[in-house]
Amino acid sequence: MLLAVLGASGQTGVHLVQQALDKKNRVLALVRDTAKMEGLVQDSNLEVVEVDIMSEDSITAQLEGRAVDVVISCLGRTDRKSRDPSTFYSDSMREVVGAMRRAKVRRLVCVSSWWTVSWPQDGRPWWYRWFVQGGWTATHADLTEMEEFITMSCTDINYTIVKPPVFLTDGPLDARELKAAQLEQVPFTGRPTLSRANLARFLLFILGTSKWNSRKVAIL
Ligand SMILES: NC(=O)c1ccc[n+]([C@@H]2O[C@H](COP(=O)([O-])OP(=O)(O)OC[C@H]3O[C@@H](n4cnc5c(N)ncnc54)[C@H](OP(=O)(O)O)[C@@H]3O)[C@@H](O)[C@H]2O)c1
Repeated sequence: MLLAVLGASGQTGVHLVQQALDKKNRVLALVRDTAKMEGLVQDSNLEVVEVDIMSEDSITAQLEGRAVDVVISCLGRTDRKSRDPSTFYSDSMREVVGAMRRAKVRRLVCVSSWWTVSWPQDGRPWWYRWFVQGGWTATHADLTEMEEFITMSCTDINYTIVKPPVFLTDGPLDARELKAAQLEQVPFTGRPTLSRANLARFLLFILGTSKWNSRKVAIL
């Protein structure tokens, strides 16, 4: 397969690119700084190109004519500690989907997060509501808008929105079966964490199953 990866130079993105290459896929890394990628992953099946993720034209120019099978977004707001309002995820996703349509790429996988959409009894623990949630309200509102755009306006795209727990770690890749649920979270005890390496493993795993086509999936 040919995977176009957005956010390839990020912490999850690097794991994804490396694991995809290890499985003999080809990867087109769409990054804002190609020099940054040079020091991270090198492989003859990896092509690194520069894009402006806020420009449909820029993304289209790299996707068109390449027979890309899937676009996977590991984009993350790099100022995410900020409480300032954000439109990073929703704005960039509109440009990405516009480019996918023009380049006739019909499969999209993107990373969001647990608990972006709130409803009574959604299982958020008290400590999250009291101590953590406030800092991420702006980011989660933006992710909610991104998810709504994809689910409501992208019925022509076979999407999967992957929602990892709010604490990603640099822990190792392992082979345990991840729990998955079509909810805002997966039942858990303690502090819900997932390594970025295992998140990347799941992003690749779902390409081989139709189970999560046109769905959101929370994982742990
Ligand atoms: N961190 C967590 O605990 C956590 C929890 C739940 C969900 N998530 C979600 O998981 C995903 C991956 O997280 P992560 O920690 O692996 O992310 P990360 O390391 O911060 O990587 C973010 C990626 O997005 C790219 N990016 C940011 N702004 C960009 C821009 N304006 N133009 C082009 N590229 C841009 C970065 O490029 P550069 O390398 O050039 O900066 C980088 O490749 C994100 O969607 C995040 O919201 C994270």
